[in-house]
Amino acid sequence: MNAFQYRDGRLFCEDVPVAGLAEEFGTPTWVYSKAQFLHQLSQIQTAFAEVDPVICYSVKANSNLSILKLMSEAGASFDVVSGGELFRVKQAGADTKNVVFAGVGKTDDEIRYALECDILKFDVESEAELDAIGAIAQSMNTVGRVALRLNPDIDAKTHSKTTTGKKGNKFGMDIERAGHLADKVLANPHLQLSGIHMHLGSPIHSTEPYERASAKAIEVVREYRSKGHEISWINLGGGFAISYKHNEGLDAAEYAKVIVPAVKEAGCRLALEPGRFIAGNSGILLTRVVYTKREGGKLFIIQDGGMNDLARPAIYDSFHRVWPVTPTVPMPDDAESRPDGCEAADVVGPICESCDYFAKDRYLPPVNRGDLLSTFSAGAYGTVMSNNYNSRPRGAEILVDGDSYKVVRKPETLEDLVRHELVDH
Ligand code: LLP
Repeated sequence: MNAFQYRDGRLFCEDVPVAGLAEEFGTPTWVYSKAQFLHQLSQIQTAFAEVDPVICYSVKANSNLSILKLMSEAGASFDVVSGGELFRVKQAGADTKNVVFAGVGKTDDEIRYALECDILKFDVESEAELDAIGAIAQSMNTVGRVALRLNPDIDAKTHSKTTTGKKGNKFGMDIERAGHLADKVLANPHLQLSGIHMHLGSPIHSTEPYERASAKAIEVVREYRSKGHEISWINLGGGFAISYKHNEGLDAAEYAKVIVPAVKEAGCRLALEPGRFIAGNSGILLTRVVYTKREGGKLFIIQDGGMNDLARPAIYDSFHRVWPVTPTVPMPDDAESRPDGCEAADVVGPICESCDYFAKDRYLPPVNRGDLLSTFSAGAYGTVMSNNYNSRPRGAEILVDGDSYKVVRKPETLEDLVRHELVDH
């Protein structure tokens, strides 16, 4: 399924022509497809159904309250990494009983809040954090359920800035050391070790890292059980890849093929934390061409969306497909092809940074001042990483459902930019 299709030369989200949304709400504007979000979630639910998993949608990928509500109503729980994300889950009206909480720097206040919310478990990333959870749980006369986040030392071949499961990354703890912490949990009545957690990186384009991590998980579960722990959960994190360029993403069923047998062999429940797989291709960013210019032998398409809106190309050199909303040349299947009638251009934003670009040397049809562009695969790590750099208000977020749509975040105004600032007059 692909909710973003061209019909008669115009881009639609489901049954809504997106040009109308840009007219109504201005640009830049984010457009999400409800059906695509639900489809992506159901792909994972179906692929892993045999082991009755808890799918903890990773809030960091797209934390809009309406998206969280949608995910919750469709049977997902949540992976959070801050008190703020947990607050969002509650604000969306979702249950917190299956929430998992990862992150290397949980503060005392965040731990207390999560214990009050009675979340499923903390994915503990250090001995000091384990001690803090134990002490806070004791002060609240409760028990903190924990999973040890293990660093399996597996190279998932992701971007260097998004790899997490290799020795030397800040996440989790070395498997060899974690055994000692498991012993410590046994000795503390305010802690209960219920599982193990690994997140290998993002995005992961092959199943092999999951296969290796699953094999390690089985070993560790056996070892901890032999020490007297009731280990009932294996959490393999997120990281499932998506197609940014052509069809490079894998089906959820491919990942399931290597994970499900291991979970069965270990006799555990499975938790997963997919973010990008669910949100990535469920959203686009609409922008408008402000100017074009030719300088230094290059064509520049200058648009009103910048790295403050979509930071991924600037930070990771990420590839996002960009194409006009009403193109003179149909969008090719392969984003790296060079269709007739197209010319290489850099699609850049208005921000005063050379890294402010969405696409480089990309073959695009002719565009003019005022034309609309769509940047695809922008549903994950788009709005959540956006900011107001260069004092640029952020655009609206629109959720499309069939032939109707609603605003799920209002566009910011100039007043919003200074709302929290105090000046002596
Ligand atoms: N679980 C944990 C513990 C994580 O750290 C992450 C992502 C996920 C789950 C979700 O991973 P996903 O299924 O979305 O791949 N900003 C970067 C991605 C950073 C991912 C951070 N952790 C980007 O734009 O590519």
